[in-house]
Amino acid sequence: MSQYECVDLTIDGDLATVVLNRPEKRNCLSPTLHRNMVDALNEVAAEKCKVLVIAGAGDAFSAGMDLEQCFLEPFDDPEKFNEINQPCFEWFTHLRNFPGVTVAKVNGWAFGGGWEIASICDIVVAAEESVWGLSEINFGIFPGGGATWSYAHNMTRKQALYYALTGNTLTGKQAVGLGLATMAVPLADLDAEVDKVVADLVGKGRAVLRKTKEVYEKSLQMTFEESIDWEMAKMWELSRETNDDWIRTALKSFAKREFKPGLQSYKLTNDV
Ligand code: COA
Repeated sequence: MSQYECVDLTIDGDLATVVLNRPEKRNCLSPTLHRNMVDALNEVAAEKCKVLVIAGAGDAFSAGMDLEQCFLEPFDDPEKFNEINQPCFEWFTHLRNFPGVTVAKVNGWAFGGGWEIASICDIVVAAEESVWGLSEINFGIFPGGGATWSYAHNMTRKQALYYALTGNTLTGKQAVGLGLATMAVPLADLDAEVDKVVADLVGKGRAVLRKTKEVYEKSLQMTFEESIDWEMAKMWELSRETNDDWIRTALKSFAKREFKPGLQSYKLTNDV
């Protein structure tokens, strides 16, 4: 476990867990926390963990940017303002492009930058009771630093603009219907639900997880015809990287009727 001042990082085999750890400040994102996250994500990437879970300590996921330390205090010194906030953009970008699967475990408050962290993760497991808000309009600005991009890429226009323009909150239960969360469970079941999702993911191959994400993202920017070419090129790349495991192991095993791919995963042999 790596102990940073505002972040706890645990690496356990294929799983890395990062806990935003400023519960007394509802895990809002201070300059120190931003620098800690730059380092923590680099540490996880170097370990090639398959799954990264991001969680919040105490009763909050994250109350977003530290409004005092990131905005108010450095405001009159533009150079300092930029220096303080740059690491935030660096780790948000790293998280958005992370090679491993990112899972946000949203236990409680998720405002502004906290909402953004969840939105740029691949999978979100939320507590039904969690409370989300794009609160920026309540203090006179719009969601910045990628927050507008992230809410616009998760919700329909009518829903997105309603929440950005009013600053009204929604619950984790509503977040599922709005496209912000993958699933919501009662807070009491949140740990167990995240464990289940993690177990499903770590049972898959590292290369196929990474390629699935990569091909998904890229295909959104392509025509259907371009995507067919891209997907087939990437398919052969994956096949080579895994020593053709899908044919040599998985489909041979299926031919022997050892498993049903509709319901189970094959037993990995080339997990690169
Ligand atoms: N920036 C700086 N400090 C924050 C903060 C933030 N985003 N969110 C919470 N805090 C601080 C509070 O000022 C308070 O500090 P104090 O103990 O020194 O007084 C402490 O965290 C606890 O917050 P409190 O408001 O007492 O907790 P709560 O559980 O009653 O309410 C919130 C939680 C999240 C609803 C409320 O703190 C809040 O509205 N925060 C701002 C959320 C926001 O607009 N974020 C957008 C950022 S982009």
